Amino acid sequence: MKIAILASEGSPYAKSGGLGDVMEALPAALARIPGNEVVLILPYYKKIKENPKFETELVAQFHVALGWRQQYAGILRHTNRTDGVQVYFIDSLYYFGAREGAIYGDLDDGERFAYFSKACLDTLVNLNFIPDVIQCNDWQTALVPTFLQAQYRPLFPGTKCMYTIHNVEYQGWAQSSFFDDVLALPWEYRGTLDMSGAVNVTKAAIETADLVTTVSETYARELMYPYYAHGLDGILSAASWKLTGITNGIDTDVFNPETDPALPAHYNADNFVIGKAKCKAALQEEVGLPINPDTPLMVMVTRLAGHKGLDLLVHIARRLVWEEDCQLLILGTGEPQYEHFFTELANEFPDRVAAKITFNLGLASRIYAGGDIYLMPSKSEPCGLSQMNAMRYGTVPVVHCTGGLKDTVPPADENGQGGLGFNFQSYNADDFDGAIRRCLNLYHNNREGFRALQRAGMEQDFSWNVPAGRYMEQFHRMLGW
Ligand code: GLC
Repeated sequence: MKIAILASEGSPYAKSGGLGDVMEALPAALARIPGNEVVLILPYYKKIKENPKFETELVAQFHVALGWRQQYAGILRHTNRTDGVQVYFIDSLYYFGAREGAIYGDLDDGERFAYFSKACLDTLVNLNFIPDVIQCNDWQTALVPTFLQAQYRPLFPGTKCMYTIHNVEYQGWAQSSFFDDVLALPWEYRGTLDMSGAVNVTKAAIETADLVTTVSETYARELMYPYYAHGLDGILSAASWKLTGITNGIDTDVFNPETDPALPAHYNADNFVIGKAKCKAALQEEVGLPINPDTPLMVMVTRLAGHKGLDLLVHIARRLVWEEDCQLLILGTGEPQYEHFFTELANEFPDRVAAKITFNLGLASRIYAGGDIYLMPSKSEPCGLSQMNAMRYGTVPVVHCTGGLKDTVPPADENGQGGLGFNFQSYNADDFDGAIRRCLNLYHNNREGFRALQRAGMEQDFSWNVPAGRYMEQFHRMLGW
């Protein structure tokens, strides 16, 4: 099968969140399936261009029509990728190559990614790679199925298009003039793009894609409700016949406690007790906490954003570290009120709390390995990857029962049996507190039970093999093969 994957970010080139991880591992997993030919197209951001690790050759040049604009696009092939995925970058000095800083957040993001979406289709035409399926991701590539249907059909007669929602909160809104000025689609598409008098590109993608997927089964159901759908519940309910949840995997080669170069000691599911103890002591030392093997270390690696459930933690953290024998370690950056809160808490309880307000992948790995308990109380979580990283490294998750957290962390009983972690149903601080204390209780009073839980998490298959197979099923479903 010929598969084109289009995205605004992908590791190791450019990443701002989970989408970047998925765009590293999913294309590779699909490329491992015999008979598949996989192309991945990404913007050529300045930092990719300036990174000497990524060798490229120019393979095509053309102009993309965007309303009244004709914008240059250079197509660069990444020549030193070895996993079977063919990666192309779209080079535009104007939209990507000359901009400093973050991947998103510019005032003209709408135009930048409308350009990118169209340029992706033009690239496939220019390379004469007419795929059986196109898989596109989140609002940045949401215009692809609409452009395909409205303007590119004769060039892609049999191509089917899947749209994947990684987080419905970010939808790609623009004012209504965007329709004529930038998109210049035939007038009959005005209704497709319109939502409440403005342009919403995610809404259009849900309507025009052949199939819509999202990144866990529970999130696919949650999207039917106003609480989760950020205004798109009606549109998504009407499209529910073509909406499927496929829970993400993680890159189990990268996240592997037996080989991870960032770790001070290595281990697997059979010998983790010793290996993790070494990692924990080293971590406690690294972050300035007392080196105490029997004090449970609760950890979090997260963007410090409200919807990650930090409001709940703020509410209970002080009482928890005061009353319980435990340590708390947070790694991440984000909203200033949380950065301040955890910095202050660490100052107040230097023996109990450490806050590392920074972004550090090596430290993140050492935290997954050295922690005992991983906290992830997200208000909503389409899939979530770090709870899987934590389990792979033998760290027991305590999660809010939502989205992918519900699908990947079945609850254990008070003896650590029958599940992979602890969860709480209703989003409130007391219930989160209760779940944490059940976990701490198991740690303190039944260490064998706690270890059984750690082992169960480490023995799970979180690899991309299963989800890649499910993507293939949906590709076949679209094609009617
Ligand atoms: C988004 C979601 C996250 C998911 C990731 C990858 O970042 O918020 O839950 O794991 O996409 O699909």
